[in-house]
Amino acid sequence: MRSSFAPGKIILSGEYAVVFGYFGLAVSSSIGIEAAFENDDSEPQIEIIWRGAKETHINYAKKIAALCEKDARKFRGRLVINSNLPVGKGMGSSTALIIAVSRALLGENAKENARLIEDTLNPGNSGLDFTTIWENAPILYCKSADAKIISLPSDLLREAVLIDTGLPDETTSELVAWMQRRKSEVLNELEIIDECTKRLVAGDSLPAVMREHNKAQVALGVVPPRVAKMIAEIESAGGAAKVIGAGGRAGGAGMVLALGDKTWIRKIASRENMPVTLL
Ligand code: PMV
Repeated sequence: MRSSFAPGKIILSGEYAVVFGYFGLAVSSSIGIEAAFENDDSEPQIEIIWRGAKETHINYAKKIAALCEKDARKFRGRLVINSNLPVGKGMGSSTALIIAVSRALLGENAKENARLIEDTLNPGNSGLDFTTIWENAPILYCKSADAKIISLPSDLLREAVLIDTGLPDETTSELVAWMQRRKSEVLNELEIIDECTKRLVAGDSLPAVMREHNKAQVALGVVPPRVAKMIAEIESAGGAAKVIGAGGRAGGAGMVLALGDKTWIRKIASRENMPVTLL
């Protein structure tokens, strides 16, 4: 029996900018995905047991297991998965599943295999999610340099909450491809986001940086109007908020990280029927 755990991630700064080689900063979450593989040679193949999961998620786990088998032996037995990470909402659930399953099947040395699977299933990814989730640590990331584990103030997100704005209509890969086609139009926003990352590393105030960062995400077109309005209301109440992943053009934008008066944030989010969870 081999067990593994992969956390989710929260991008503090850097969405899209990291895809184009700028800096990004992300932390791992306490919630995540557990996978445990029990070898059983009497089984013809891997049986995936994931209580409460939708068929699409189980099929995704099967795909990952099949990719793990590519260069290794055929696995026989049971792969039990448990997750408390919201799926498709910017917390890195897809990457966490790749890492948890790869480690359960292939062991702790599965990094290269897991990275290849990430590139196969999430084309165009920058590597920020992968590195943060693999390391389970705060990561300062830039494609062209070695990722750095950095130490951040321990109370940085103590008062933060997450607001679930719903599923985006587009996948991250679709949004990244859309951004790549518009690179010359969005350079200014990408540079602002890069600057936000550098300000955080230099110790600048998180709420102040988040407001700037959110403005750039809105300008990039990945914060749907309903979410942008909700964030603007949080700012008017003295707080700050930003989408923590790819966001979306229509539908929801996944999870929004919010700082400020929790009573006000709950009130504002509940007007939009958006659930709030503590970090
Ligand atoms: O898939 P998400 O929501 O975790 O998006 C990650 C952030 C992007 O910069 C948009 C993509 C990437 O690979 O860095």
